[in-house]
Amino acid sequence: MGTPVDPVPQVIRQALADASDAPGYPLTAGTPALREAIAAWVARACGAGVDGLGVLPTIGSKELVAWLPTLLGIGPGDVVVVPSIAYPTYEDGARLAGATTVRADSLTAVGPTPRVRLVWVNSPGNPTGRVLPAAHLRKVVDWARERGAVVASDECYLPLGWSADAEPVSVLSPEVCGGSYDSVLAVHSLSKRSNLAGYRAGFVAGDPRLVAELLKVRKHAGMIVPAPVQAAMVAALGDQAHADTQRERYRARRERLYAAFTGAGFTVEHSEAGLYLWMTRDEDCWATVDWLARRGILVAAGVFYGPGGQRYVRAALTESDEHVAAVTGRLAEA
Ligand SMILES: Cc1ncc(COP(=O)(O)O)c(C=O)c1O
Repeated sequence: MGTPVDPVPQVIRQALADASDAPGYPLTAGTPALREAIAAWVARACGAGVDGLGVLPTIGSKELVAWLPTLLGIGPGDVVVVPSIAYPTYEDGARLAGATTVRADSLTAVGPTPRVRLVWVNSPGNPTGRVLPAAHLRKVVDWARERGAVVASDECYLPLGWSADAEPVSVLSPEVCGGSYDSVLAVHSLSKRSNLAGYRAGFVAGDPRLVAELLKVRKHAGMIVPAPVQAAMVAALGDQAHADTQRERYRARRERLYAAFTGAGFTVEHSEAGLYLWMTRDEDCWATVDWLARRGILVAAGVFYGPGGQRYVRAALTESDEHVAAVTGRLAEA
């Protein structure tokens, strides 16, 4: 279903343990070491320049996704745009703020409303694994800047591209943001890259003015990453070897599951990046969920992610090799 199962890398566990004597309040802004580690990682992984970049650690990325509209002062009468098939928390966050959600993949579909305050993009996407090209992201950023809206780019699957033809690109890349972070925020997570879902370790990077505003509110709201987790994040961001090892595990699982599902008659769409196979048997998703459940295989119903997912299911690559082997065996017998 999507929760990491492989061990937390030793280098990260050690950093957590070494920082366990933490009697004082941690910094909401993050320790200087963490802020530097985030900026250095963003420069490497997102191709962003470090100058003028605002950075802020978050308690995993889900809380930021859920509270971002509220933290930005978005409220009743305002519109938040989310992808047509999307991680449900974008809509939940708009609802928590009392704002209206519009589901749209193209901004022409949004129409001329002046009320749009926030546009979510998610590339590589959950659940579809779709990668948005730089030119598409650039248009979204230009559109939002013209209207005074913010673009929040959820990039938690950025390091997990599987196709040379569809390399994931960050909103912070100069190709997309034009070298200015004005009105853009990139949301990142260590849950999948570093098997850290249990630690709650994420961050946001981008427009320094917006990040300062988030920091101000989060300080007073007590949204603080615990000190040992901050130390663990520094270790995680500074070590690429464990992330490469984990990525190769997912690549191998993806290849096996892809072959097994297509061999069993499923059509896989998008899924060129990220941790999911987005698939259909050309029937209602609940019929597919049921068919798989009868074989002891659990997937998510596509309709969880929006009405456009009604005929799809989502299978996660986050299972042990043993479970992946069981799934491929059961599908081969189907
Ligand atoms: C698209 C997307 N964004 C954000 C999250 C939240 O991740 P976390 O809170 O573990 O950082 C997830 C988790 O699955 C996700 O799929």
